[in-house]
Amino acid sequence: MHRLKFRKSVQSIKPYIPGKSIEEVVKELGIQDVIKMASNENPFGCPVSAEELAPYIQRGSYYPNVSTTPLYTQVADIHGVSEKQVVFGNGSDELLMMLGQVFLSPETHAIFSQHTFSEYEFVCRVMGSSFTSVPTRDHAYDLQAILYAIRAETRVIFLANPNNPTGLLVPRQTLSAFLEVVPDWVAVVLDEAYAEFVTSHDFATGISFLEKHPNVIVTRTFSKLYGLAAFRIGYAVAAEAVIAQLHKVRQPFNVNQIAAMAAVLALDKKAFIQRTLENNEMGKRYLYSIFEKSGLDYIPTEANFICVQLPFSGKLAFESLLKLGIIVRNLASFELPNAIRITIGLTAQNERLGTALKSLLSRG
Ligand SMILES: Cc1ncc(COP(=O)(O)O)c(C=O)c1O
Repeated sequence: MHRLKFRKSVQSIKPYIPGKSIEEVVKELGIQDVIKMASNENPFGCPVSAEELAPYIQRGSYYPNVSTTPLYTQVADIHGVSEKQVVFGNGSDELLMMLGQVFLSPETHAIFSQHTFSEYEFVCRVMGSSFTSVPTRDHAYDLQAILYAIRAETRVIFLANPNNPTGLLVPRQTLSAFLEVVPDWVAVVLDEAYAEFVTSHDFATGISFLEKHPNVIVTRTFSKLYGLAAFRIGYAVAAEAVIAQLHKVRQPFNVNQIAAMAAVLALDKKAFIQRTLENNEMGKRYLYSIFEKSGLDYIPTEANFICVQLPFSGKLAFESLLKLGIIVRNLASFELPNAIRITIGLTAQNERLGTALKSLLSRG
C-alpha cells in the first residue's frame, strides 16, 4: 500500500477511453473488413505520403522547431492575423489544456454546455477548477443560461462551434450578441475543430470577432479536414497578449517537426480538401435520406458527423453494428443514451452503414 498524496482533483478523473480502433475490432471479432465511423477522422485517410515526409524523418534526431517551417506564416495568412496571434499544439486537445493552465486553478470557475466535447470538463478537473455544465435546450446551447452561470470566479467559457456531438452551430448574430454581454475578463474559447466543414452562411469564425473582443480564443485542428489525427497538431488563434501567455506554458518541443511538415504539406492538398468537403455533403444527404426513410430523428449537422436518435440504446446500436464490422460512437457518455454519432464516410461505407442500420431496425 502506498501513502502517496495525489492531488484531490486528479482523483475524480476517469481516464479517457478512446473509440475502438479498427485493429482492435479485427483482432477481437476476427472480421477483416472493419470500418470506423466513430471519431470524425477523414475517410480519405492521410493526404501526405511517406515519401514526402522521408526527409523530415531522416532529421528525426534533431529537436523540433515549428518556427523554422512555413507553418506560422501559412496559418497566419489563412486567417488574416499576425504570426504572434498563433500558437501550435500537440493536437487542439493540448491547446485546451494549455488554456486551462493559464486561466484555471482551484479558485476559479469555468462554464461549458451539456452534450459537448469531454475535454473541457477534463481540463477543469486536471486544473482543480470548479465548473458548471449548463443544460442544453433542444440539444442546442442555452446561451442565456450560460450567461447566468457567470460569476466573479469565472475565467473561461468553452464552446465548440460547431458542437461535437450535435453538429449544431451558434449562428453569427447570436454569437455576436453573446460576446457583447460576456464580461471582457472572461475568456470565450471557441473550439472550431469542425469549422472547415460548415456550409451554413450563418457561421462566423471567432477570429472575425478578435479585434472587437480580445477575450475570444479560437482553436483549430489538422485532425479532421486535413486527415492528420495521428500526427497531433492543432493551433490557437487569439490576441497577441493571450498567445504570449500560452507560449509561457507550452512545452518547449510540444509539436514534432514531422507533424508540422505534414501540416504544411496538407494545406497544399487542395484536391484532397475539395474531395473531402464534396464527399461530406454527398454523404450527409445520403445518410439523412436513410434516417428519414427509417423514421429516425437526427440533428442536421454542420460538421463531418451526424447525431442520430434511436428507438433503443446507443450501447445496443454500437454493439450490434460492431458485430457487423462498423464502429460508431455510442453517445451515452455525452448524456444522450439513445443516440449514436456517425462520422460521414465514403459512399460505400455510408451505404454499408445504411444497410446495417436498416437490418438492425427491422429486428426491433
Ligand atoms: C470539438 C473537438 N475539439 C477538439 C478535438 C480534438 O482534436 P485534436 O485531434 O486536434 O486534439 C476534437 C476531437 O474529436 C473535437 O471533437
